[in-house]
Amino acid sequence: MTSRTAPELLSLLTAAGGGWVSGAEISRRLGVSRTAIWKHIEALRLLGYEIEAAPRKGYRLVARPDLLTPEEVRAGLATRRLGRVVEYRETVGSTNDLAKEMARQGAPEGLLVLAEQQTAGKGRLGRSWTTPPGAAIAMSLVLRPDLPPHAAPRITLAAAVAVTEAVREAAGVAAGIKWPNDVQVNGRKLCGILTEMEAEMDRVAFVVLGIGLNVTLRREQMDPSFRETATSLALEGAPPVRRAALVQAILARFEAVYDELLGDRFDRVLDRWRALSVTLGQAVRALGLDGQPVLEGVAEEVDQEGALLVRDGAGQVHRVVSGEVSL
Ligand code: BTN
Repeated sequence: MTSRTAPELLSLLTAAGGGWVSGAEISRRLGVSRTAIWKHIEALRLLGYEIEAAPRKGYRLVARPDLLTPEEVRAGLATRRLGRVVEYRETVGSTNDLAKEMARQGAPEGLLVLAEQQTAGKGRLGRSWTTPPGAAIAMSLVLRPDLPPHAAPRITLAAAVAVTEAVREAAGVAAGIKWPNDVQVNGRKLCGILTEMEAEMDRVAFVVLGIGLNVTLRREQMDPSFRETATSLALEGAPPVRRAALVQAILARFEAVYDELLGDRFDRVLDRWRALSVTLGQAVRALGLDGQPVLEGVAEEVDQEGALLVRDGAGQVHRVVSGEVSL
């Protein structure tokens, strides 16, 4: 939005809860002329806001667009410190890269980078990640936890718990967590998490927590190499859900688990991770970086650092710290 007036006008209309707000009141509250109001109404309509106008009644907000703008994400956001400041882009290379750049320049904990589209989205293990315009959530949070670097993977586990619970609640799909941190539905990947960290020897400087969630993506919009293994909320038959509402649900859940983690109560988060896991108790093959199996066994446990403990056929337990498993 181009000026301060349009967001303020939007808050006024939002506060009226779908009721009429007279031109006179808007003009008085925002200190602008009737003509200026009309211009801002038109600007909001261009963004996709449906606003009814009627003589003697004024204006009324009928429908909001499915955008990830700061206005949409902040209206009704229940967090105390995460996502209160939003850096929004229609198009960006990677929200993680932008968040890292801003963190290096001193961005505070809680800054949230959101984009409608990524042109160079990054996945784990050097893969790419597709985010077509308006069809997904690409979000990156700057965090400054007081943790030693070895404890940072806990943030990724906590995020997987938050996203899975949020998606179950807000979209009503039976999501689960596949180790290390994929959110799956019916065996297909719905969401990926990429955590990047800058640290000194004994202290984390900052963590960028990147979350990519497929909302309305159709198969043909997916990278051909993921078409068989990926899914979206729409493809799973979830009822339409506003992306901003999903972001709010994820942030609220994440703030709660992040507080547990920082407050030395990570055990509770891990219990929730175990309850949502689709990997534990399963026969798995751990894959090396080249995708070849390096170990087969039963996934028995996940430890405080997020490593998977796999018991092989000879009864020996192996600690798998990174990479992937196939079920
Ligand atoms: C994975 O490979 O499973 C992780 C995918 C992470 C994708 C998200 S989208 C938002 C953020 N920006 C990126 O470039 N990547 C992450």
